[in-house]
Amino acid sequence: AELDLIKIEEDPSLPAAKKIKLRTIQDHLETRVLVQGWIHRLRVQKGVAFITLRDGTGFIQAVLSGDLAKARQTQELTLESTVVIKGVISKLPEGKTAPGGVELKADYYEIVGLAPSGDDAFTNKVQENADPSLLLDQRHLALRGESLSAVMKVRAAFLGAVRRFFAEEGLLEVTPPCMVQTQVEGGSTLFKMDYYGEEAYLTQSSQLYLETCLPALGDVYCVQESFRAEKSHTRRHLSEYTHIESELAFIEFEDLLSHLERLITKTVQYVLEDPVTAALVKQLNPNFQPPKMPFLRMEYIQALDWLNEHGVLNEDGEKFKFGDDIAEAAERKMTDTINQPILLIRFPVEIKSFYMQKCKDDPRVTESVDVLIPNVGEITGGSMRTYDHDELLAGIKREGLDADAYYWFIDQRKYGTCPHGGYGLGTERILAWLCDRFTVRDCSLYPRFSGRCKP
Ligand code: 4AD
Repeated sequence: AELDLIKIEEDPSLPAAKKIKLRTIQDHLETRVLVQGWIHRLRVQKGVAFITLRDGTGFIQAVLSGDLAKARQTQELTLESTVVIKGVISKLPEGKTAPGGVELKADYYEIVGLAPSGDDAFTNKVQENADPSLLLDQRHLALRGESLSAVMKVRAAFLGAVRRFFAEEGLLEVTPPCMVQTQVEGGSTLFKMDYYGEEAYLTQSSQLYLETCLPALGDVYCVQESFRAEKSHTRRHLSEYTHIESELAFIEFEDLLSHLERLITKTVQYVLEDPVTAALVKQLNPNFQPPKMPFLRMEYIQALDWLNEHGVLNEDGEKFKFGDDIAEAAERKMTDTINQPILLIRFPVEIKSFYMQKCKDDPRVTESVDVLIPNVGEITGGSMRTYDHDELLAGIKREGLDADAYYWFIDQRKYGTCPHGGYGLGTERILAWLCDRFTVRDCSLYPRFSGRCKP
């Protein structure tokens, strides 16, 4: 009852408060501001309450004292409630710490939406050490956490850096379709759909479409979702992922390799140039070492030697021999041991896709490249493309594909063919490396994998 006598009222004699976002708090010291957001942390004591407020752009510590602290509404506050706070921001004295080294001395605040307490309290929904699948059920709430939200911010910065890099390199952005009737990377991972009675698929890769853009637009790239019905649950496979793909005309294999080195080093450099994003990367991955050019180059055949010398066995439990796939575990073992980015090149024809150009000096292998990164393994797959009409047709037939469905792709070899190449970079994979996440699932807003299509 005593609490109910305390009224929170705004003093009309105070100067008007300027509405600000929390990322700009340093620009608004010693003026009266209005901030709004979610209660991220809360400590209510006798005569004082501390609220760490979050608005997605930053954090601030607000101090409530006197009646503001004593009022019933403050005593009953909960985490994740939304509030509007007015007051003055000041630098903290030496020795005290809070986000940004500042504090907001509140003179007034209102509750916008009170979050539940008790069984339904936020902390009961999103428990840090909960089973990952329970946390994924609560992804919409878990995203508010400091790590996940930091990854999403680094992700946005990375996609910005990618676009900046491509602009500098003279590539044009295009948006290919997601609904298609051709496969690129094998039938076993196709998501089929009914398209007005016809069979169609969700795209596995925009590569073939990018190739058709070269004569019209020159070098191109896209940032597009790709879909793979991967049956296996691994740290680095999603059913839907953000695929960064490029296609470059009139290049040679060596040009493709040096372009890839620049792509990886420069985009990381751009992400770290911004002090806010650099701080997030530091928070997530304190020991991160930016990559340096040139990358180690290794031929597939040399990788087999390395694996055999280090006692790593193939999928049949035997020594590696020419033509074997280097599966995820073996690839990771090698990459983690070497502990620097590797350009793994010249894979055999039989383990690579139908469209890959064969090496001039050895037709058993292709002008292909995987970029391997410690802790993740493959983040990029690329190659030069078969640009001879008949050879491409033979590749399509070898794969058992219906050449008619590919008429538009084959036409590229008919109406002015050219040597060209390209690659696909998995956004969530490069982020898993940059942000030191155990799994790519932590780098996707709402990850999809077998058994998970919600929320
Ligand atoms: O090696 P992939 O299958 O290559 C292609 O799709 C080519 N057509 C790309 C091109 O040349 N335009 O996939 C390329 C990259 C992989 O290196 C990996 O980073 C990512 O896409 N990736 C996946 N990421 C998450 N989940 C999956 N299921 C992925 N499958 C591939």
